[in-house]
Amino acid sequence: MLDTQTVNAKRHAIAETDDVWLFGYGSLIYKVDFPYLEKRPARLSGWARRFWQGSHDHRGTIENPGRVLTLIRDRSSVCFGMAYRVKGATFSHLDHREKNGYLRHEVKITWVDQQQSNWQQNSQVAIVYQADEHNAAYLGPQSERAIAQQILSSEGPSGPNREYLFRLADALRSLGEEDDHVFAIEAAAYELLKNNDQ
Ligand code: BEZ
Repeated sequence: MLDTQTVNAKRHAIAETDDVWLFGYGSLIYKVDFPYLEKRPARLSGWARRFWQGSHDHRGTIENPGRVLTLIRDRSSVCFGMAYRVKGATFSHLDHREKNGYLRHEVKITWVDQQQSNWQQNSQVAIVYQADEHNAAYLGPQSERAIAQQILSSEGPSGPNREYLFRLADALRSLGEEDDHVFAIEAAAYELLKNNDQ
């Protein structure tokens, strides 16, 4: 299996003292267990948030993997997230936390809270963690009901997989954001719970 911690450490020449923007679109929106200098809502164009990545180290086990988010290339999508200005030294913690198939990429994000007419002024280079379809834990698409079912029946060292889904959906709502994919899976999960199918 690819050792993403080693690969990520070599991927970008980030000095420990550099200031770097990190774009979070999943658990990084609601679970901020690292120091940061600044936090701003942002958008990433051309990518969609999807529950297509398996998790056997956080929200599931090897025998019973959970489902967590990754980003999928989609020209027509815009992914809302939270950006954090962090010191380069913070990446060793993040590389360890997100070691299950995620590689760092450099992307351009745009600020939500600053509507400049000039795109250049409104955009910022940031690092994002993405797990592509070639990593060993990748699961790919399924129906919303099947994804909800898998999430409801999985649990790992970081807790129940449903907590990841429900906390993210709540965080997006409280930020006034909509995400059809996340909200449809959340609705399917509540439907399954209501019908006692889980
Ligand atoms: C995030 O919240 O940006 C994130 C999601 C999955 C893995 C790493 C980071």
